[in-house]
Parts: sequence; structure tokens; C-alpha cells
Amino acid sequence: PESTAASLRTPIVAVLGHVDHGKTSLLDKVRGSAVIEGEAGAITQHIGATAVPLDVISQIAGGLVDPDDFDLPGLLFIDTPGHHSFTTLRSRGGALADIAILVVDVNDGFQPQTEEAIEILAQSQTPFIVAANKVDTVPGWNPEENAPIKQSLDRQSDRVRGDVDERLYEIIGQLSDKGFSADMYWRVQDFQNNVGVVPVSAMTGEGVPDLLTVMMGLSQRYMKEEMAIDVAGPGVGTVLEVKEEKGFGTTIDVVLYDGVVREDDTIVVGSSGEPIVTDVRALLKPRPLAEIRTESRFEKVDQLKAASGIKIAAPELDRAMAGAPVRVVRDREIDEVVAEVQDEL
Ligand code: GTP
Ligand code: MG
Repeated sequence: PESTAASLRTPIVAVLGHVDHGKTSLLDKVRGSAVIEGEAGAITQHIGATAVPLDVISQIAGGLVDPDDFDLPGLLFIDTPGHHSFTTLRSRGGALADIAILVVDVNDGFQPQTEEAIEILAQSQTPFIVAANKVDTVPGWNPEENAPIKQSLDRQSDRVRGDVDERLYEIIGQLSDKGFSADMYWRVQDFQNNVGVVPVSAMTGEGVPDLLTVMMGLSQRYMKEEMAIDVAGPGVGTVLEVKEEKGFGTTIDVVLYDGVVREDDTIVVGSSGEPIVTDVRALLKPRPLAEIRTESRFEKVDQLKAASGIKIAAPELDRAMAGAPVRVVRDREIDEVVAEVQDEL
């Protein structure tokens, strides 16, 4: 069993941006898996959640992240779709996020869903950084797999570096038009009031060490207090998807953002009608680094703490609704928790 002392929870990182700007590819690079190949037309139609533990981040970031400097357990990434018809999923991702990565194709710059994503982030006051993606497509780019971006930029000819800079300053200008003071991430001191721009390539992995380092640093510096949770407290989360799962019936994919859920818990789940009150039958955890959306083999666990993606099997989930709250009852009155869930809908 877990200790009952407060511990730091994993920050939730939403990945937002225009269609095809490379959100899923960027997460793929981090995961080292190929979710993109399993997607219909490689368009992300659902929100996925991926937990990346600190040791993996540290390994990818090489010398940039020393695990001893951090006490956050890692990052939980939420992928969102860029296609214009999925505004609700983007809003849901934005609402769940502690911090965000706005992915912008360096060649395309700001596009309609980039602007929409910025509005979602501004409204929820979610701090974010910009991943200026696809730097490898700048003509003449000389790639170096998985290198930190400054090392990569140093390898480029003056002309290529000039072309990259021009595109990056265009994005910085577009951010400033939206009211955000922005600069190259290595010049940003105060990430709460300035947006850092990180040049990356999801294809070659260049800049990915920087991206992870900045996200960890940002979380550690500004989120630590918010991340202190009572690990024994009743779990709170949001339903991402309602799905049939072989052998389990209707299940819900949930992002748990506070507390803990246990296999003997009673939960209240939002629906289109009256909230559902039901008992957890099984907690199904995707393996670390696995994508909850595509992972079919789950590990049964007896409890799980925030933040994490978890599949919950329970009777009567058919009426459960994506985007609805989930709350663990534990020692409280059921009516009280039902009222809380109703208030959130
Ligand atoms: P939606 O989920 O549909 O919004 O798209 P997305 O933002 O997740 O984009 P995705 O990762 O599916 O990438 C779109 C296309 O761009 C794919 O063909 C990728 O291979 C390609 N791509 C993504 N990142 C890079 C990059 O850094 N360099 C290059 N050359 N291609 C990239
Ligand atoms: Mg995608």
C-alpha cells in the first residue's frame, strides 16, 4: 500500500495545435512507438494519454535533465486532434492540462486551430510553450538524430540558420499579435509571463531533449505546489472515452487528476441523465509509455494515483459520457458526491 503522506503528482501536459503540425509524431518520438501508423489517415480522433516516467525523460534529454534535480515523477501527455471538427476534444484536453505544448509547423505558421488552441489556453490560463516543429524540412537542413537543438543549429550553414530564424521570428511575431510576449526558449527567464519557443523535429528528434527539459523545468519551478496531493484522497478525474472492452463490457478511459482510485471503490460518473453510481470491477492500467488509446493489453492494478490514464471497468457504464467527471466516493455520503458531479456537468 501507498504511504498516506502527500506526494507530488505527475503534471498533465496537453499537446495542442493545427491538423498535421506533428503533435502525434512528437509524442511518438518520445514514446518510441508508432501510434500514428494505427490511426485512420493518421488523424487523431480521440484524446490519448501517455505517461512518461522521469527516468525515461532523463534518458531522452541526455545531459539536460539530471533526475536528482527533480522530484516530480514524470509527465502525463494528452494528445489532442487538430482537425477542425474536434473542438470539444481540444477544449477537454486544455481544461485537464496543467501545462501545454502548442505545436506549430515552422513552414505553416499559425493556422485556424493554432489560434483556437491559443484561445483555449488563454481562457484556462494554462502556461504553455511552443514547439516549432519540422525544422528538418527547412531546405538544406543537415540533421543529427536526437541532438539538442543548439548543437543542431550550430551544424547548419549560415543560410539555413538564417532561414530557420526567419521562420521562428515569424511565429514569435504571431504570438505577440495574440498578446503573448515570446522568445526563443533559451532567452526566456520567466516562463510564467513569456512563451518559450523550442525548435524541434518530430522526425529526427532534434530539439526533443530541449522540449522535455523545458517542460520538466517549468513544472518543477511553477507547478510543484499545485502538484502536492494527498495520495490517499478520493480520486477525481474526467472521462475521455466510453468503450466496449472484450471481457469487461462497457469501460471508461479516465484521466485521473487528483487522489487515488482503488478496486473496491464506489464511483460516481457523469452521464446525460442522472449520474451513475457504481462499484469498480477492475482498474486497468496501460503499461508505462504505452498509449491508453491503442494499448490492448492492460495490467490489472488494485489502486492507482493521479495523474494517470486508467481504464475503469464497472457495471452500468453504458450511459457514461465522454468529458464527464468521475469521482470516488470513499468515506463520504453518496448524495454529496452525486451533487458534486452534477455541479460539474
Ligand atoms: P492531427 O492529429 O491530425 O491533428 O495531426 P498531428 O498534429 O498529430 O500530425 P502528425 O503527427 O500526424 O503528423 C502529420 C504529418 O507530418 C505526418 O506525415 C508526419 O510524418 C509529418 N511530420 C510530423 N512531424 C514532422 C517533422 O518534424 N518533420 C517532418 N519532415 N515531418 C513531420
Ligand atoms: Mg495527431
